[in-house]
Amino acid sequence: MSFLDRRIHLVTGKGGVGRTTVAVALAHAAARAGRRVLLAEIGDPEGGYSAIGRKFGREHLTPEPEPLAEGIMGCQLCAIRGHELFVRSVIPAGPLIKAALASKPLRRFLVAAPSLHEMGVLYHILSLLKAKDRQGRPRHEVFIVDMPATGHTLALTSLPAIILDLLPVGPMARAMREGQSYLNDPTKAAAWVVTLPEQLPVSEALELLDGLRSTEMPAGGVILNRVPEDPFTEEERDALALLLDEKPMHGEVAFRRIGSAQISTAHLKQRTSLPVWELPEIFGPGDEEPAFSLADILAPLIAGTS
Ligand SMILES: Nc1ncnc2c1ncn2[C@@H]1O[C@H](COP(=O)(O)OP(=O)(O)OP(=O)(O)O)[C@@H](O)[C@H]1O
Ligand SMILES: [Mg+2]
Repeated sequence: MSFLDRRIHLVTGKGGVGRTTVAVALAHAAARAGRRVLLAEIGDPEGGYSAIGRKFGREHLTPEPEPLAEGIMGCQLCAIRGHELFVRSVIPAGPLIKAALASKPLRRFLVAAPSLHEMGVLYHILSLLKAKDRQGRPRHEVFIVDMPATGHTLALTSLPAIILDLLPVGPMARAMREGQSYLNDPTKAAAWVVTLPEQLPVSEALELLDGLRSTEMPAGGVILNRVPEDPFTEEERDALALLLDEKPMHGEVAFRRIGSAQISTAHLKQRTSLPVWELPEIFGPGDEEPAFSLADILAPLIAGTS
């Protein structure tokens, strides 16, 4: 099952490892493969700038998908939008519902109550997955979500089972079952854990994989980001290590990082049978977006041809 064959991808991992960059790179790679891509992040359109938007030169994204680049639409997944869509699907009384949901205290409550927030986001995701274009084809073939930090991902992936336990029948249960039919199906969905080739980030990634498994969210693989390039042969490395043991030298930190990255990478590969995709550290001019170079490397991987 290749990346491109699945409908929805959750890009997750701990803060600062490069989730947004990797999500954008995956979107470019999928668009170049001819897919209609939707790239989304979870957020509040009224709250601050959009990390995805900034990668495409704009400050904000709306809950409604809009074109970001050739083949890529972008939007912000918004709990309130999901609540509105859900309530409308149950009670078809448009203006009244809209007025009720516009109430500030109610909005605050819906967003602050943890499960209600996740429920809204999940419903918004579902409605986007089901959206059709004029020819009746899925409007978005490949849906990539730049997830917020680890805990939020598990809150979202664990939600359907929790709700179904509490409310096994009714419209909410139907929506949650539909959510499960996408998210828990490895032919349709995958979570990708982005991490760095360092000891602590690797153990955190392994923990996150355990967490995903316990919520029945299929994992696609681990994306090791910012892997340092190793320009040395084994003999050169051994010789350099001996020299560095004698006296400190400029470049020592970078040299040691190569070794520790290799150890962490080997540890990760030993502990998981999932694919591990390695992305290099990109050194470009300050204003160059690393996601473009990363998309070239990801292209054969997402097509399943390498
Ligand atoms: N492979 C790479 N090579 C060089 N720079 C990179 C690479 N991956 C990410 N970066 C840079 O690292 C920084 C953090 O990346 P990014 O914003 O994607 O991380 P994040 O995990 O989404 O962070 P946050 O937790 O804040 O959402 C950015 O400046 C990005 O350009
Ligand atoms: Mg980010």
